[in-house]
Amino acid sequence: MAERIAEEKINEIRQSVDIVEVISEYVQLKKQGRNYFGLCPFHGENSPSFSVSPDKQIFHCFGCGAGGNVFSFLMDLEGYSFIETAIKLAEKANIELAIDPSNLGKEKKVSDDVLQMIEAHELLRKFYHHLLVNTKEGQHALEYLLERGFTLESIKKFQIGYSLNSWDFVTKFLLKRNFTAEILERSGLIIRRESDNSLFDRFRNRIMFPISDRHGKTIAFSGRALGQDEPKYLNSPETVIFNKSKILYNFHLAKPTIRKTSQIVLFEGFADVIAADRAEVENGVATMGTSLTEDHVSQLRQLVQSVTICYDSDNAGIEAAYRAGNMLTNVGLLVKVAMMPNGLDPDDYVKQFGAEKFQNEVMGSTVTWMSFKFLYFRRGKNLQNEGERLLYIEEVLKEISKLTKAVERDHYLRQLAGEFSLSLDALKQQQKQVFYYEKNKNQQGQLTPNKPTVVTKKSVKSLYPAYQTAERRLIAHMIRNSEVAYKVQELLNGHTFNVDEHQAIMTYLIGYYEEGNPPDPSAFLNYIKDDKLKRIVAELEMMSINSEMTPQELNDYLKQVLNFPKLLMIKEKNAEKIEAEKQKDFLKAATIAMEILQLQKALK
Ligand code: GTP
Ligand code: MN
Repeated sequence: MAERIAEEKINEIRQSVDIVEVISEYVQLKKQGRNYFGLCPFHGENSPSFSVSPDKQIFHCFGCGAGGNVFSFLMDLEGYSFIETAIKLAEKANIELAIDPSNLGKEKKVSDDVLQMIEAHELLRKFYHHLLVNTKEGQHALEYLLERGFTLESIKKFQIGYSLNSWDFVTKFLLKRNFTAEILERSGLIIRRESDNSLFDRFRNRIMFPISDRHGKTIAFSGRALGQDEPKYLNSPETVIFNKSKILYNFHLAKPTIRKTSQIVLFEGFADVIAADRAEVENGVATMGTSLTEDHVSQLRQLVQSVTICYDSDNAGIEAAYRAGNMLTNVGLLVKVAMMPNGLDPDDYVKQFGAEKFQNEVMGSTVTWMSFKFLYFRRGKNLQNEGERLLYIEEVLKEISKLTKAVERDHYLRQLAGEFSLSLDALKQQQKQVFYYEKNKNQQGQLTPNKPTVVTKKSVKSLYPAYQTAERRLIAHMIRNSEVAYKVQELLNGHTFNVDEHQAIMTYLIGYYEEGNPPDPSAFLNYIKDDKLKRIVAELEMMSINSEMTPQELNDYLKQVLNFPKLLMIKEKNAEKIEAEKQKDFLKAATIAMEILQLQKALK
C-alpha cells in the first residue's frame, strides 16, 4: 500500500511554500509586472519564455508548454514522486508529516535507501570533522592544513575532516549504527574485498572534503593524501546519490552569493574554492576534478549570465579553460577569465600574496574571452618568427570573424594592428577574406558550432480557430469563478466542448467545485491527475483576461462553441449535396439542401 497524505496536509504545504522561492533555486527569475520570467529549465532557450505567477502560485512556459504548480515543478524537474515532493516541501515549510517510511511501499524502497546512504554520509562528515579538529589522531592532518594556509574558520565552514589510518574503523562504526553492509557498499563508503569477501574502508589517512548536493546534504567525499601518496585525491565512486558529471563542489554554499552578484567563479580544485572563499570570493564552485560537462553548463546557465573562469595557469589549466570557455560561450554565457602568474593556482596565489591581492589582481583584472583566446593562441609560438606570427594572426582573425558586432571586431582588429604594427586597413581586408572563407567552408557541409535552439514567444504562439479560442476563454474564466463555471454548464445544456481536453477539464472543474473547493489555480492543478490537462490548465490560468466576463462576451463564446458542430455538419452536407448533383440525383440533392437550411436556421 502506498502511503497517502491527507488532502488538508497537502493544502497546508501548498499554502506555506512560495513557488517563486522554490523555482528560484533552479532558475534565475526576474520580475516583470506581476509575474517573474526566466529561462525555461525544461527546454533549451536563450530568451526567457518561462513565467511564474506568485499570485496564482503556478508556472507556465510559453515556449514548450510546460506548466503546473509547485508540486508538478519538482516532480517534473527532479523526477520526484508526488509523496517525495510533499515530503521535500513539508520539510521546507516546517510541516510535520508523520509518514511511516515502512509504509511507503516497494516503490519507495529506492528513496529509503537513498535516505540511508545520505544519512551515513552525514554521520561520517561529522565524525571525520571531529577527528580532524578535536583529536590527537587528527592533529598531524590539521597541522598539514594550517601549514598550507587553511584557516580554522574555513575548515569549519567546509566541514573538512580526517579519515583514520585504519582498514575498518568506518566499516565497524557504521555497521554498529545499523547500516547494512549492502547499503554501505552501494554508497561507496566501504569496499568488499573479492578474495575473502571482507569489508574495508575506502578512505584511510586522508584529508576529507565532503561533497554536498544542492540542498547541502553530504553525498560523497573527496579524500586528499597527506603526503605524496597516490592518488593525490581519491573520490567516492559514482553512486545513486553521487553523479560526478552533475555535481559542482560548493554549489550549495555559494548559491546565495551567486544570486546576489549574478556572477559565478569556476575553479579547478577544491583547495582553490576554499582559498578564494578565504579571500571573500564566496561564489566559487569547482567540478569534481573532471572536465566541465554539458550538464554543469546548463546548471550555470539557469543561474547567471556571466561566468568567470579561474583555472590554474599551467598548460593543463589553460587548455581546460579554453575548452570550458567555448562550452560556456556556446550557450550564450558571457565569459571572463581570471589569470595568475605562470604556474600558480588560486590556492598558491592566495597563500603567497594574500587575499587583497587576489581580489584586485586576479578577480579584479579579468580578461575578456576574446583576449584570453589571443593569449591562448600565442602560447608556444615564437612571434619573432614570421611564419609563426602569421599563423597566429590568422588564428586570431578567424576568432574575430566570429564576432557579430562590428564595434567589437573593430576593437580587436585595432589591438592586433597596434601590437604588430600592421596597417589596420590591410588587416580589415584580410579579416573579411577569412570571414568569407570560413562561411563558405561551413556552407559546404562543415559542422557549425552547436547553436542552442531559440524558442521565442512569437514563434510558438499558435492561432486557434474561433471555437477553440472561445472554449479556452470560457475555461479561463471558469477556473477563476465558480459561478461562471456553473452558468456555462447550465447554458451548454447537455452539449459538450468540442475539444476533448477542454471537456475533460470542465468535468474536473465542476467536480472540484462540487466538493466545496474555492477557485484556486494551484489547488485545482493538484486536483487534476492528467499531465497533459495540467499543462493546458496552467496555460489558461496564466492567460490574461478581464476579471469580469460581460454577458455579451459569455454569449458570443457560447455561440462559437455550440455553432461549431452545426457548421461542421453543414460543411459535410454541402459536400454530400455537390456529390449528389454530380451523380445527377437531384431529389437527394434537394433533400440535403432542405437539411442544410434547417441547420442554418438552428445556428445561434
Ligand atoms: P592541492 O594539490 O591539494 O592544492 O590540490 P589542487 O586543487 O591544486 O590539485 P590539482 O590542481 O592537481 O587538481 C585539481 C582538482 O583535480 C582537484 O581538486 C581534484 O578534484 C582533482 N584531482 C587532482 N588530483 C587527482 C587525483 O589524483 N585523482 C582524482 N580523482 N582527482 C584529482
Ligand atoms: Mn593547489
